[in-house]
Amino acid sequence: MSRVLPQVEPDPSLPPRVTVYEVGPRDGLQNEATTVPAAVKAEFVRRLGAAGLATVETTSFVDPRWVPQLADAEELLGLLGADGRGPQRPVLVPNERGLDRALASGVGAVAIFGSATETFARKNLNRTVAESVAMFAPVVERARADGLWVRAYVSMCFGDPWEGPVPVAQVVDVCRRLMDLGCDQLSIGDTIGVGTVGHVHRLLEALGAAGIGPEAVGVHFHDTYGQALANTLAALRDGVTVVDASTGGLGGCPYARSATGNLATEDLVWTLDGAGVETGIDLDALVATSMWMAEHLGRPSPSRVVKALAGG
Ligand code: HMG
Ligand code: MG
Repeated sequence: MSRVLPQVEPDPSLPPRVTVYEVGPRDGLQNEATTVPAAVKAEFVRRLGAAGLATVETTSFVDPRWVPQLADAEELLGLLGADGRGPQRPVLVPNERGLDRALASGVGAVAIFGSATETFARKNLNRTVAESVAMFAPVVERARADGLWVRAYVSMCFGDPWEGPVPVAQVVDVCRRLMDLGCDQLSIGDTIGVGTVGHVHRLLEALGAAGIGPEAVGVHFHDTYGQALANTLAALRDGVTVVDASTGGLGGCPYARSATGNLATEDLVWTLDGAGVETGIDLDALVATSMWMAEHLGRPSPSRVVKALAGG
């Protein structure tokens, strides 16, 4: 493994510390043609934890007919034991059925996932936006009553492949409705990677005006158009300190046309290391994990940093 590292030149416009919210085992593996065995997923989660990723989203308790790649959620949580529990091992939960399954597996954190657009709400949740908010309400209420940490994703915040541009006010309205259910954190999703830096700034500003400040917001950028890292830096300069990323740049939503991988965790860590921003993550261990997972998936990682360090 190469020991090439970025030269550290602190950037005072960035926060001193960033929390990386790792979505590789969930967003990454939900979209792969290869279904990864539960034992490999468990090792993936453990390796990510060992590489310094405090928060790792492990899987989804959705209808297994909708996402067969994650149909082994119970088995995975069983294999993980204590490593799959606690507030830093969230799982996706769309409805009370999913919450029951998650609670039976002993999870300590859940994420609901709404949509800023009607078309994607229908395609991903088989519901209108209003019906999906109604579906999430008892999930959040019961999860909180059980002491769980709750995140709310909102997809299609920067554009929708069927509807085109999505008005900022429409996005903020859905975000507000989900946060009003009592969620601890919002994650704004650029599901198809079309957002650009000014758009990020404008949405964060509008969320702030609606009472959702950057301390409550994570950013979730897919990298379809190569904008994820630039957009992340824009968000960090606006006060966000939680960034979703996927080791090796895996990811995509099976129900969103033209969604590709998330921002690669390695690309993010390279940038943050160089800017002197603390993440607690060991880049070499992460790259080794991506290369190991790429072997299981039978395809190379799309991350530029993984490619460069693996080749070095
Ligand atoms: P539905 O068909 O409307 O569900 O699907 P239903 O409530 O009518 O129930 C139908 C059947 O499904 C019933 O079984 C239920 O028990 C079963 P039957 O009585 O017919 O035998 N069922 C379940 N089984 C297991 N676990 C469950 C569950 N729920 C119902 N939780 C539903 C509605 C929401 C369930 C479905 O649309 C679904 O599972 N969608 C999930 C889609 C998904 O996972 N997409 C990817 C994640 S989102 C994403 O990637 C975006 C994100 O990364 C952010 C971004 O990038 O923008 C987060
Ligand atoms: Mg996603």
